[in-house]
Amino acid sequence: MRHGPGPRVVLAAILLWAGVPVLAGPGSAGAGASPYEPAKSCGRCHDAIFKSWSESPHSRSAASPAYFEALRRTVETATDKDGARRACVWCHAPTTLITGDLELQQPISREGVTCDFCHTVVDVDMEKAEHPFVLEPGRVKRGPFEYSRITGHASAYSFLHRASPLLCASCHEFTNANGVVVLSTYSDWKEGPYPARGVPCQDCHMAPVPGSMVKGGGGKDALRVINLHRVVGGSAQSQLKRGLDLTIESVRRSGGSAEVSVVVANVAAGHPVPGGLATKSLILSAGAEMPDGRVEHRQERVYRRELKDAGGRVLGTVSDLFLRAASVGRDNRIRPKESRRERFGVPVPQGARAVVVRLEYRDSSDPRGEPRTTLITEARHNLSTP
Ligand code: HEC
Ligand code: HEC
Ligand code: HEC
Ligand code: HEC
Ligand code: HEC
Repeated sequence: MRHGPGPRVVLAAILLWAGVPVLAGPGSAGAGASPYEPAKSCGRCHDAIFKSWSESPHSRSAASPAYFEALRRTVETATDKDGARRACVWCHAPTTLITGDLELQQPISREGVTCDFCHTVVDVDMEKAEHPFVLEPGRVKRGPFEYSRITGHASAYSFLHRASPLLCASCHEFTNANGVVVLSTYSDWKEGPYPARGVPCQDCHMAPVPGSMVKGGGGKDALRVINLHRVVGGSAQSQLKRGLDLTIESVRRSGGSAEVSVVVANVAAGHPVPGGLATKSLILSAGAEMPDGRVEHRQERVYRRELKDAGGRVLGTVSDLFLRAASVGRDNRIRPKESRRERFGVPVPQGARAVVVRLEYRDSSDPRGEPRTTLITEARHNLSTP
């Protein structure tokens, strides 16, 4: 995708880039000041991208009730309240790295992982804990195109955006003060088969979809594709379904029970499933379905990565994972391209009509209530009446 209007525009972009102040200029400093533009203002022109970003977890990262409650509890119970707040805010409301608005008072802070934050990241240095970014908020928006004919702002081509997993690793890989890798999505991806195939995070999470880059078309819109900004993961059933396959390999009946062999395959996730925080688990279950639809003798296998505190107890809340994890426990997640075979001995009561196998995703990141369970997919084997 390298074509464009020519050197004049590029030169203008370079000059603008050179003149952009790194922090807010004089006059805009102080409380309430932000060098970042709100997403809505980008949306005046990039309306389709704005709409899909608005539906993404990124747009809710500093506004979801689950996050607020987790943040509130973390700060409440911490001795160093400012430190705790700082530890929880920089990924969820990254503009605060520049504005210092740790209380999340400014509207831009509550936009979470917002357009103008991502598109003014110049570089990522993973060695720098809790601030891995080189940031240059200002007129130059960095993106996947070599040249752009642009009205409204300057632009610069950025490999970081086009194809580097580091843009994502900045927030999706994290080692805590005890040296435990709390978020391992990037290192997990690196260990799998996808780096060698040249498939970064963007290829799966921001796939090209039909659409107009700018309202009314023109320019790059000859391409008629935009990169999906609805960036979803385990919170979307469609994405889970795309990533995983479930098949019943065989069902062998003997007496009052059935030997069921099942294969769960990670066909299209670039990292083990479940990915992300250790509050997620994948649950495979098998049982006998009765004529009224009830499932009896349900048995489960749970796949997850456990993190433990210094006393060896498995941790359950997001806050504890970040602040108290001292070691990694069992990790039996399904690796990229792995097919895992499991066997169940399912008792089959009189009248049972099928053996049902289900794959579910459970997320207990929200501290306000019960874990949220989503059915990913189901496979069934009908039982002939004896
Ligand atoms: C290094 C970046 C980073 C830091 C630091 C961080 N988070 Fe997160 N947080 C994430 C990511 C990424 C997710 C998305 C889930 C995933 O990857 O599994 C998330 C998800 C969450 C969720 C679930 C949100 C939902 O709507 O379901 C909560 C709650 C949360 N974080 C709270 C916190 C708290 C409290 C802290 C401070 C102790 C914190 N986070 C620090 C990156 C971070
Ligand atoms: C006045 C309209 C307008 C506004 C407002 C606007 N843009 Fe753009 N933007 C454009 C146009 C026009 C292009 C070039 C389209 C083309 O080449 O087809 C563009 C291109 C881009 C690109 C691609 C740059 C590249 O080199 O790959 C990015 C990224 C971008 N805009 C981000 C933003 C962000 C972030 C905001 C809000 C802070 C924003 N834009 C606000 C009109 C606008
Ligand atoms: C998490 C970081 C992130 C956020 C938030 C984000 N973008 Fe992007 N954006 C990207 C990346 C990465 C690409 C390039 C993807 C690729 O080339 O595979 C991109 C591409 C673009 C492009 C070029 C056209 C295209 O579809 O590739 C425009 C324009 C753009 N973004 C505008 C926006 C606007 C407007 C918002 C907010 C409504 C926004 N972005 C939010 C990371 C982000
Ligand atoms: C500035 C930090 C930051 C950057 C950069 C970032 N993310 Fe995120 N991402 C988050 C946070 C925080 C969440 C959790 C949002 C929530 O649920 O509250 C999240 C959520 C997600 C989710 C949804 C997870 C779920 O539970 O469904 C996916 C997928 C994701 N990000 C992919 C990406 C990709 C791909 C990139 C790079 C193009 C990227 N992120 C860049 C901070 C970031
Ligand atoms: C080959 C495609 C592919 C690649 C490459 C890929 N992902 Fe994913 N990702 C998926 C699929 C499919 C899911 C849904 C299954 C799941 O939840 O694990 C997912 C889920 C996620 C989730 C949600 C985890 C959960 O279980 O809630 C996050 C966060 C995420 N990806 C981030 C990333 C980041 C960051 C990278 C790059 C380092 C990346 N992904 C690379 C396909 C991919």
